[in-house]
Amino acid sequence: MGTTDTDIIWRRAIEKATAEYTERHPRSRDAIRQMAAWLPGGDTRSTTWFDPYPMVMDAARGAEMTDVDGNVLLDFLRNYTLLVHGHCPPFVEEPIRDALSRGFLFGSPMREQGALAEHLVARLRAAGRVRFTNSGTEATMLAARIARRYTGRRRLAVARFSYHGSFEDLVWDAAERTGSALFPADDADGAEAALRAAGPLAAIFIEPVLGSGGILPVPQDVLERLRVVADETGALLVFDEVMNFRLGYGGAQEGTGVTPDLTTLGKIIGGGMPIGAVAGRTEVLAVTDPHRPDHMEHGGTFNGHRLAMVAGLASLQALDRAAIERINALGDRLAAGVRSAIAAHDVAVSITNVGSLLNFHAAADVHTPEQAEEAAGAPLRRFLHLALVNRGIFLPTRCEMCISTVMTEETIGRAVAAVDDALAEAERLRG
Ligand SMILES: Cc1ncc(COP(=O)(O)O)c(C=O)c1O
Repeated sequence: MGTTDTDIIWRRAIEKATAEYTERHPRSRDAIRQMAAWLPGGDTRSTTWFDPYPMVMDAARGAEMTDVDGNVLLDFLRNYTLLVHGHCPPFVEEPIRDALSRGFLFGSPMREQGALAEHLVARLRAAGRVRFTNSGTEATMLAARIARRYTGRRRLAVARFSYHGSFEDLVWDAAERTGSALFPADDADGAEAALRAAGPLAAIFIEPVLGSGGILPVPQDVLERLRVVADETGALLVFDEVMNFRLGYGGAQEGTGVTPDLTTLGKIIGGGMPIGAVAGRTEVLAVTDPHRPDHMEHGGTFNGHRLAMVAGLASLQALDRAAIERINALGDRLAAGVRSAIAAHDVAVSITNVGSLLNFHAAADVHTPEQAEEAAGAPLRRFLHLALVNRGIFLPTRCEMCISTVMTEETIGRAVAAVDDALAEAERLRG
């Protein structure tokens, strides 16, 4: 059977899954239509949209969310991995309530900023100082500015398929427009050659585990080589741990033994509130030190917001080494369960995982970010996404999944059963 025939079959399967979806979500459809009068298309975040329309959520607690149609979904998206303790954990709610009643923005420093920074410095081997922002994108923008100021150079380098938010200079597939240099994330010699050929660089950016690049760990020899090249050429090495940080007590970098100059953070460090941060070498962060007459201005109306500071600290304190080990082990168990389900069916799918982060792929073999990208474009992937949502499993269109501390063996069992059932349906529909 040719690829075209297969694609046609999956398109029919998508139509069937879409019909089932629309039947279960009439109120979401109406709400999206109404909101489209004020929001372009009825949504305000590209990554939450999928066809025919996303579910409109009403409430959530623990591991589950309820949409406006009353469907209850097991949340494996966790707002793109950040709700590491599930929805509304009481130990995060309490300090938020307390901060709400005492005031939360003063246009002046507050001690909670120091407390979260102290906690981050204690966890991150490489960091002596921290500067807060309001999102991961702002953190990577700030890291680029700091690196440019510190080195006196302008050009940035980004690994292919490494995601750093929506600051265009760091969007790897916009490099032709921005002039940023590109290097491969999975080939040490290729990376070194590309970086040395790029001329003077301010910074080299990479996620130690590629997140939206397929949940694929960057090989150790690549990370080590980047450190050597950065040292020899005077560029700063930046590890983007906005998504990775949950993988180890000191982030994903802890297990690599490679020390970056700067680490960008976001997501889990705000306990569900908007946040970002740049943590790194004291000497480098000092470019923002107001005691210095030539310091770099870095403003931000919401920087160091008390709600994010207290929620982040409470959330991180509860994410100790034991909690991280537990969710990483549950991630391994989910991956193993999905692999057994895959083995029982004749459908070309696979799963990659690094601890608590997983990615379900519409291809039998995914070892490289290029393969992950190709699988993400396959019609089978769209079918799998809708089929899993129809079975009560909430995950993004690229079928990434993540584990939170409220999940148990029972949660994993439900997810594996849903995957098994979705694959059985895929087999039936394909005939
Ligand atoms: C590795 C990485 N860097 C940066 C960002 C951007 O963060 P934000 O969406 O908070 O701007 C993300 C978001 O998914 C990310 O995963």
